[in-house]
Amino acid sequence: MTTHATKRPTGARTATRTYQVAVLPGDGTGPEVIREGQKVLEAAAARAGFRMAWRPYDVGGARYLKTGEVLPDSVLKELRDVDAIYLGAIGHPEVKPGILEQGILLKLRVALDQYINLRPVKLYPGVWTPLRDKGPEHIDFVVVRENTEGLYAGVGGFLRKGTPEEVALQTSVNTRRGVERCIRFAFDYTRARGKSKKLTLVGKTNVLTYAHDLWQRVFDEVAAEYPDVRTDYTHVDACCMWMVKNPEWFDVIVTDNMFGDIITDLGAMIQGGMGIAAGGNLNPQGVSMFEPIGGSAPKYTGKGVINPLAAICAGGMMLEHLGEAGAAQAIEQAVMQVTGTKLKSLAAGQMGFSTSEVGDLVVNALR
Ligand code: IPM
Ligand code: MN
Repeated sequence: MTTHATKRPTGARTATRTYQVAVLPGDGTGPEVIREGQKVLEAAAARAGFRMAWRPYDVGGARYLKTGEVLPDSVLKELRDVDAIYLGAIGHPEVKPGILEQGILLKLRVALDQYINLRPVKLYPGVWTPLRDKGPEHIDFVVVRENTEGLYAGVGGFLRKGTPEEVALQTSVNTRRGVERCIRFAFDYTRARGKSKKLTLVGKTNVLTYAHDLWQRVFDEVAAEYPDVRTDYTHVDACCMWMVKNPEWFDVIVTDNMFGDIITDLGAMIQGGMGIAAGGNLNPQGVSMFEPIGGSAPKYTGKGVINPLAAICAGGMMLEHLGEAGAAQAIEQAVMQVTGTKLKSLAAGQMGFSTSEVGDLVVNALR
Protein backbone atom coordinates (compact mmCIF):
# COMPACT_ATOMS: atom_id res chain seq x y z
CA MET A 1 0.00 0.00 0.00
CA THR A 2 1.29 3.43 -0.86
CA THR A 3 1.51 6.05 1.82
CA HIS A 4 1.55 9.38 0.04
CA ALA A 5 -1.67 11.26 0.48
CA THR A 6 -1.93 13.73 -2.36
CA LYS A 7 -2.15 13.09 -6.04
CA ARG A 8 -0.06 15.91 -7.40
CA PRO A 9 2.33 17.51 -7.50
CA THR A 10 3.93 15.00 -5.20
CA GLY A 11 7.31 16.63 -5.55
CA ALA A 12 6.16 20.10 -4.66
CA ARG A 13 6.87 19.61 -0.99
CA THR A 14 10.38 18.30 -1.52
CA ALA A 15 13.48 20.04 -2.80
CA THR A 16 13.47 18.21 -6.14
CA ARG A 17 10.31 17.79 -8.18
CA THR A 18 9.57 14.07 -8.06
CA TYR A 19 6.93 12.24 -10.05
CA GLN A 20 5.42 9.05 -8.71
CA VAL A 21 4.91 6.89 -11.75
CA ALA A 22 3.39 3.42 -11.71
CA VAL A 23 5.18 1.17 -14.17
CA LEU A 24 3.26 -1.73 -15.67
CA PRO A 25 5.70 -3.38 -18.08
CA GLY A 26 3.16 -6.12 -18.79
CA ASP A 27 3.66 -8.92 -21.28
CA GLY A 28 5.90 -9.94 -24.14
CA THR A 29 8.27 -7.21 -25.23
CA GLY A 30 6.63 -4.71 -22.86
CA PRO A 31 9.34 -5.01 -20.19
CA GLU A 32 12.16 -4.62 -22.74
CA VAL A 33 10.81 -1.41 -24.21
CA ILE A 34 9.72 0.09 -20.89
CA ARG A 35 13.23 -0.46 -19.52
CA GLU A 36 14.61 1.73 -22.32
CA GLY A 37 11.89 4.29 -21.73
CA GLN A 38 12.78 4.51 -18.06
CA LYS A 39 16.44 4.91 -18.97
CA VAL A 40 15.70 7.81 -21.30
CA LEU A 41 13.25 9.47 -18.91
CA GLU A 42 15.74 9.30 -16.07
CA ALA A 43 18.41 10.88 -18.25
CA ALA A 44 16.02 13.62 -19.37
CA ALA A 45 14.90 14.20 -15.78
CA ALA A 46 18.47 14.52 -14.54
CA ARG A 47 19.18 17.16 -17.18
CA ALA A 48 16.01 19.09 -16.40
CA GLY A 49 16.35 18.80 -12.63
CA PHE A 50 13.49 16.56 -11.62
CA ARG A 51 13.17 12.95 -10.51
CA MET A 52 11.18 9.91 -11.49
CA ALA A 53 10.05 7.63 -8.65
CA TRP A 54 9.02 4.36 -10.26
CA ARG A 55 6.48 2.07 -8.65
CA PRO A 56 6.52 -1.26 -10.49
CA TYR A 57 3.49 -3.54 -10.77
CA ASP A 58 3.59 -7.00 -12.31
CA VAL A 59 0.11 -7.18 -13.81
CA GLY A 60 -0.26 -9.07 -17.09
CA GLY A 61 -0.45 -12.54 -18.54
CA ALA A 62 2.26 -14.06 -16.38
CA ARG A 63 0.54 -13.03 -13.14
CA TYR A 64 -2.83 -14.16 -14.44
CA LEU A 65 -1.51 -17.61 -15.39
CA LYS A 66 0.16 -17.97 -12.00
CA THR A 67 -2.48 -16.57 -9.66
CA GLY A 68 -5.66 -16.05 -11.68
CA GLU A 69 -5.55 -12.34 -10.85
CA VAL A 70 -5.99 -9.84 -13.66
CA LEU A 71 -6.07 -6.44 -11.98
CA PRO A 72 -6.40 -6.81 -8.22
CA ASP A 73 -8.50 -4.13 -6.51
CA SER A 74 -5.56 -3.30 -4.27
CA VAL A 75 -3.48 -2.41 -7.35
CA LEU A 76 -6.28 -0.33 -8.87
CA LYS A 77 -6.60 1.54 -5.59
CA GLU A 78 -2.91 2.39 -5.59
CA LEU A 79 -3.00 3.46 -9.23
CA ARG A 80 -5.59 6.10 -8.37
CA ASP A 81 -2.94 7.78 -6.32
CA VAL A 82 0.05 8.16 -8.64
CA ASP A 83 1.03 11.04 -10.90
CA ALA A 84 0.90 8.87 -14.05
CA ILE A 85 1.01 5.29 -15.30
CA TYR A 86 3.59 3.98 -17.76
CA LEU A 87 2.31 0.85 -19.48
CA GLY A 88 4.31 -1.55 -21.67
CA ALA A 89 2.05 -4.07 -23.39
CA ILE A 90 -0.88 -6.28 -22.50
CA GLY A 91 -1.51 -9.60 -24.28
CA HIS A 92 -0.18 -13.12 -23.72
CA PRO A 93 -0.25 -15.98 -26.24
CA GLU A 94 -1.41 -18.50 -23.61
CA VAL A 95 -4.29 -16.36 -22.38
CA LYS A 96 -7.57 -16.32 -24.28
CA PRO A 97 -7.84 -13.02 -26.19
CA GLY A 98 -9.94 -10.45 -24.38
CA ILE A 99 -9.28 -11.40 -20.76
CA LEU A 100 -6.23 -9.24 -20.26
CA GLU A 101 -7.25 -6.53 -22.71
CA GLN A 102 -10.61 -6.09 -21.01
CA GLY A 103 -9.43 -6.83 -17.51
CA ILE A 104 -6.44 -4.52 -17.51
CA LEU A 105 -6.25 -2.05 -20.39
CA LEU A 106 -9.93 -1.30 -20.92
CA LYS A 107 -10.68 -1.58 -17.21
CA LEU A 108 -8.03 1.01 -16.35
CA ARG A 109 -9.23 3.40 -19.06
CA VAL A 110 -12.75 3.28 -17.66
CA ALA A 111 -11.99 3.00 -13.94
CA LEU A 112 -9.64 5.98 -14.09
CA ASP A 113 -12.00 7.77 -16.48
CA GLN A 114 -9.25 8.31 -19.05
CA TYR A 115 -11.71 9.70 -21.53
CA ILE A 116 -9.20 10.84 -24.13
CA ASN A 117 -6.88 8.64 -26.13
CA LEU A 118 -4.35 10.99 -27.67
CA ARG A 119 -2.44 9.53 -30.59
CA PRO A 120 0.02 11.67 -32.52
CA VAL A 121 0.75 10.59 -36.09
CA LYS A 122 4.05 12.16 -36.97
CA LEU A 123 6.62 10.99 -39.49
CA TYR A 124 10.08 11.60 -38.09
CA PRO A 125 13.10 12.32 -40.30
CA GLY A 126 14.71 9.29 -41.90
CA VAL A 127 11.70 7.07 -41.29
CA TRP A 128 10.29 5.03 -44.15
CA THR A 129 6.60 5.49 -44.87
CA PRO A 130 4.59 3.34 -47.26
CA LEU A 131 3.16 6.59 -48.68
CA ARG A 132 5.25 7.38 -51.74
CA ASP A 133 5.98 11.09 -52.19
CA LYS A 134 5.08 11.94 -48.59
CA GLY A 135 7.60 13.11 -46.04
CA PRO A 136 7.72 14.58 -42.53
CA GLU A 137 6.27 17.84 -43.90
CA HIS A 138 3.09 15.98 -44.87
CA ILE A 139 2.48 13.62 -41.98
CA ASP A 140 2.02 15.44 -38.69
CA PHE A 141 -1.40 15.27 -37.10
CA VAL A 142 -2.99 14.11 -33.86
CA VAL A 143 -5.99 11.87 -33.32
CA VAL A 144 -8.18 12.59 -30.28
CA ARG A 145 -10.06 9.35 -29.72
CA GLU A 146 -12.92 9.13 -27.24
CA ASN A 147 -11.78 6.43 -24.84
CA THR A 148 -14.58 5.33 -22.52
CA GLU A 149 -17.80 4.99 -24.52
CA GLY A 150 -19.11 4.00 -27.95
CA LEU A 151 -18.93 0.34 -28.91
CA TYR A 152 -16.39 -0.18 -26.14
CA ALA A 153 -18.97 0.42 -23.41
CA GLY A 154 -19.73 -3.31 -23.32
CA VAL A 155 -23.46 -2.90 -23.72
CA GLY A 156 -25.13 -5.74 -25.57
CA GLY A 157 -26.09 -9.34 -25.27
CA PHE A 158 -27.08 -12.58 -26.88
CA LEU A 159 -30.49 -13.95 -27.59
CA ARG A 160 -30.99 -17.65 -28.33
CA LYS A 161 -27.23 -18.15 -28.20
CA GLY A 162 -25.92 -21.18 -30.03
CA THR A 163 -29.07 -21.67 -32.06
CA PRO A 164 -29.64 -20.88 -35.74
CA GLU A 165 -31.85 -17.99 -34.54
CA GLU A 166 -29.07 -16.46 -32.48
CA VAL A 167 -29.01 -12.69 -32.10
CA ALA A 168 -25.96 -10.74 -30.96
CA LEU A 169 -26.35 -7.09 -30.04
CA GLN A 170 -23.55 -4.62 -29.39
CA THR A 171 -24.72 -1.12 -28.64
CA SER A 172 -22.74 2.06 -29.15
CA VAL A 173 -23.15 4.29 -26.12
CA ASN A 174 -22.75 8.01 -26.73
CA THR A 175 -23.60 10.29 -23.86
CA ARG A 176 -23.99 14.03 -24.20
CA ARG A 177 -21.49 14.50 -21.40
CA GLY A 178 -18.99 12.00 -22.80
CA VAL A 179 -19.15 13.39 -26.32
CA GLU A 180 -18.98 16.99 -25.16
CA ARG A 181 -15.97 16.59 -22.90
CA CYS A 182 -14.09 14.81 -25.69
CA ILE A 183 -14.94 17.46 -28.27
CA ARG A 184 -14.06 20.27 -25.86
CA PHE A 185 -10.72 18.67 -25.17
CA ALA A 186 -10.11 18.43 -28.92
CA PHE A 187 -10.88 22.12 -29.48
CA ASP A 188 -8.63 23.16 -26.61
CA TYR A 189 -5.91 20.86 -27.86
CA THR A 190 -6.16 22.16 -31.43
CA ARG A 191 -5.90 25.73 -30.20
CA ALA A 192 -2.92 25.00 -27.96
CA ARG A 193 -1.12 22.96 -30.61
CA GLY A 194 -1.32 26.02 -32.82
CA LYS A 195 -0.36 24.32 -36.06
CA SER A 196 -3.01 25.15 -38.65
CA LYS A 197 -5.75 25.29 -35.98
CA LYS A 198 -7.98 22.94 -37.89
CA LEU A 199 -10.12 20.33 -36.19
CA THR A 200 -11.72 17.56 -38.22
CA LEU A 201 -14.65 15.60 -36.86
CA VAL A 202 -14.59 12.03 -38.15
CA GLY A 203 -17.85 10.10 -38.04
CA LYS A 204 -20.43 8.42 -40.19
CA THR A 205 -23.36 10.81 -40.04
CA ASN A 206 -24.92 9.32 -43.18
CA VAL A 207 -25.49 5.94 -41.52
CA LEU A 208 -25.10 6.32 -37.75
CA THR A 209 -27.91 8.84 -37.72
CA TYR A 210 -28.38 8.86 -33.94
CA ALA A 211 -24.92 8.58 -32.46
CA HIS A 212 -23.16 10.79 -34.95
CA ASP A 213 -26.01 13.22 -35.12
CA LEU A 214 -25.24 13.88 -31.46
CA TRP A 215 -21.53 14.16 -32.24
CA GLN A 216 -22.18 16.62 -35.07
CA ARG A 217 -24.55 18.79 -33.02
CA VAL A 218 -22.19 18.97 -30.07
CA PHE A 219 -19.27 19.66 -32.40
CA ASP A 220 -21.10 22.57 -34.05
CA GLU A 221 -22.21 23.99 -30.71
CA VAL A 222 -18.77 23.89 -29.16
CA ALA A 223 -17.19 25.22 -32.38
CA ALA A 224 -19.09 28.48 -31.89
CA GLU A 225 -16.97 29.07 -28.77
CA TYR A 226 -13.74 28.63 -30.74
CA PRO A 227 -13.92 31.08 -33.65
CA ASP A 228 -10.15 30.82 -34.12
CA VAL A 229 -10.34 27.05 -34.83
CA ARG A 230 -11.31 25.98 -38.34
CA THR A 231 -13.66 23.03 -38.42
CA ASP A 232 -14.07 20.25 -40.91
CA TYR A 233 -15.96 16.98 -41.16
CA THR A 234 -15.23 13.73 -42.96
CA HIS A 235 -16.87 10.31 -42.88
CA VAL A 236 -14.57 7.66 -41.45
CA ASP A 237 -14.21 5.74 -44.69
CA ALA A 238 -13.22 8.89 -46.56
CA CYS A 239 -10.88 9.74 -43.67
CA CYS A 240 -8.94 6.53 -44.38
CA MET A 241 -8.68 7.57 -48.00
CA TRP A 242 -7.42 11.07 -47.16
CA MET A 243 -4.96 9.75 -44.59
CA VAL A 244 -3.29 7.89 -47.44
CA LYS A 245 -3.80 10.39 -50.24
CA ASN A 246 -3.48 13.76 -48.48
CA PRO A 247 -2.39 13.30 -44.86
CA GLU A 248 -1.20 16.92 -44.87
CA TRP A 249 -4.84 18.03 -44.72
CA PHE A 250 -5.11 16.94 -41.11
CA ASP A 251 -4.06 18.87 -38.03
CA VAL A 252 -6.24 17.39 -35.27
CA ILE A 253 -8.93 14.73 -35.71
CA VAL A 254 -11.61 14.01 -33.12
CA THR A 255 -13.62 10.80 -33.32
CA ASP A 256 -15.38 8.08 -31.37
CA ASN A 257 -13.77 5.12 -29.69
CA MET A 258 -14.12 2.47 -32.42
CA PHE A 259 -13.27 4.71 -35.36
CA GLY A 260 -10.36 6.12 -33.38
CA ASP A 261 -9.06 2.62 -32.76
CA ILE A 262 -9.17 1.77 -36.45
CA ILE A 263 -7.77 4.96 -37.95
CA THR A 264 -4.88 5.09 -35.48
CA ASP A 265 -3.57 1.74 -36.69
CA LEU A 266 -3.59 3.22 -40.18
CA GLY A 267 -1.95 6.31 -38.68
CA ALA A 268 0.72 4.19 -37.03
CA MET A 269 1.59 2.60 -40.37
CA ILE A 270 2.01 5.88 -42.24
CA GLN A 271 4.25 7.23 -39.47
CA GLY A 272 6.58 4.27 -39.76
CA GLY A 273 4.88 1.44 -37.94
CA MET A 274 4.22 0.07 -34.48
CA GLY A 275 7.84 0.62 -33.49
CA ILE A 276 7.26 4.36 -33.20
CA ALA A 277 3.53 4.85 -32.46
CA ALA A 278 2.79 6.12 -28.96
CA GLY A 279 -0.35 7.17 -27.18
CA GLY A 280 -1.72 8.64 -23.98
CA ASN A 281 -4.92 7.66 -22.19
CA LEU A 282 -5.77 10.96 -20.55
CA ASN A 283 -7.91 12.01 -17.69
CA PRO A 284 -7.10 15.72 -17.64
CA GLN A 285 -8.43 15.91 -14.07
CA GLY A 286 -7.05 12.58 -12.85
CA VAL A 287 -4.48 9.87 -13.50
CA SER A 288 -3.35 9.36 -17.10
CA MET A 289 -1.63 6.37 -18.67
CA PHE A 290 0.93 6.32 -21.46
CA GLU A 291 1.74 3.39 -23.70
CA PRO A 292 3.39 2.32 -26.93
CA ILE A 293 0.42 1.17 -29.00
CA GLY A 294 2.13 -1.77 -30.67
CA GLY A 295 1.20 -4.63 -28.36
CA SER A 296 3.25 -7.39 -26.76
CA ALA A 297 4.83 -8.90 -29.92
CA PRO A 298 5.36 -12.36 -28.38
CA LYS A 299 7.52 -13.65 -31.22
CA TYR A 300 10.19 -11.03 -30.50
CA THR A 301 10.12 -11.38 -26.72
CA GLY A 302 13.46 -11.54 -24.97
CA LYS A 303 15.48 -11.23 -28.16
CA GLY A 304 16.55 -7.62 -27.71
CA VAL A 305 15.39 -6.76 -31.23
CA ILE A 306 12.19 -4.85 -30.57
CA ASN A 307 12.12 -1.11 -31.21
CA PRO A 308 11.83 0.86 -27.96
CA LEU A 309 11.13 4.21 -29.63
CA ALA A 310 7.34 3.97 -29.25
CA ALA A 311 7.76 3.41 -25.52
CA ILE A 312 10.30 6.22 -25.34
CA CYS A 313 7.92 8.56 -27.18
CA ALA A 314 5.07 7.52 -24.85
CA GLY A 315 7.38 8.44 -21.97
CA GLY A 316 7.96 11.82 -23.61
CA MET A 317 4.20 12.35 -23.83
CA MET A 318 3.96 11.47 -20.15
CA LEU A 319 6.53 14.13 -19.23
CA GLU A 320 4.69 16.69 -21.33
CA HIS A 321 1.48 15.80 -19.49
CA LEU A 322 3.24 16.10 -16.14
CA GLY A 323 4.20 19.64 -17.04
CA GLU A 324 7.79 18.93 -18.08
CA ALA A 325 7.47 20.30 -21.60
CA GLY A 326 11.18 21.05 -21.92
CA ALA A 327 12.23 17.50 -21.10
CA ALA A 328 9.50 16.13 -23.37
CA GLN A 329 10.74 18.23 -26.23
CA ALA A 330 14.31 17.18 -25.59
CA ILE A 331 13.26 13.53 -25.86
CA GLU A 332 11.41 14.12 -29.11
CA GLN A 333 14.41 15.98 -30.57
CA ALA A 334 16.69 13.14 -29.51
CA VAL A 335 14.40 10.54 -31.06
CA MET A 336 14.31 12.54 -34.29
CA GLN A 337 18.08 12.71 -34.34
CA VAL A 338 18.31 8.95 -33.86
CA THR A 339 15.76 8.15 -36.58
CA GLY A 340 17.31 10.72 -38.88
CA THR A 341 20.95 9.76 -38.50
CA LYS A 342 21.32 6.30 -36.95
CA LEU A 343 18.61 3.70 -37.45
CA LYS A 344 18.50 1.61 -40.62
CA SER A 345 14.84 0.82 -40.12
CA LEU A 346 12.23 1.01 -37.39
CA ALA A 347 11.26 -2.65 -37.81
CA ALA A 348 12.09 -5.20 -35.14
CA GLY A 349 15.42 -6.86 -35.89
CA GLN A 350 16.23 -4.46 -38.71
CA MET A 351 17.23 -1.36 -36.79
CA GLY A 352 20.96 -2.04 -37.06
CA PHE A 353 21.04 -1.86 -33.25
CA SER A 354 19.65 -3.83 -30.34
CA THR A 355 16.78 -2.62 -28.19
CA SER A 356 19.08 -1.34 -25.45
CA GLU A 357 21.50 0.21 -27.94
CA VAL A 358 18.64 2.27 -29.35
CA GLY A 359 17.86 3.42 -25.81
CA ASP A 360 21.51 4.41 -25.41
CA LEU A 361 21.48 6.30 -28.71
CA VAL A 362 18.53 8.37 -27.52
CA VAL A 363 20.19 9.06 -24.18
CA ASN A 364 23.36 10.20 -25.95
CA ALA A 365 21.37 12.43 -28.28
CA LEU A 366 19.68 14.24 -25.37
CA ARG A 367 20.91 17.77 -25.01
C1 IPM B 1 -5.60 -0.04 -28.71
C2 IPM B 1 -5.85 -1.51 -28.71
C3 IPM B 1 -6.95 -1.82 -27.71
C4 IPM B 1 -8.18 -1.09 -28.18
C5 IPM B 1 -7.23 -3.31 -27.54
C6 IPM B 1 -5.99 -4.07 -27.13
C7 IPM B 1 -8.35 -3.57 -26.55
O1 IPM B 1 -6.15 -1.99 -29.97
O2 IPM B 1 -5.18 0.50 -27.68
O3 IPM B 1 -5.83 0.59 -29.75
O4 IPM B 1 -8.94 -1.60 -28.99
O5 IPM B 1 -8.39 0.04 -27.71
MN1 MN C 1 -6.05 -0.47 -31.50
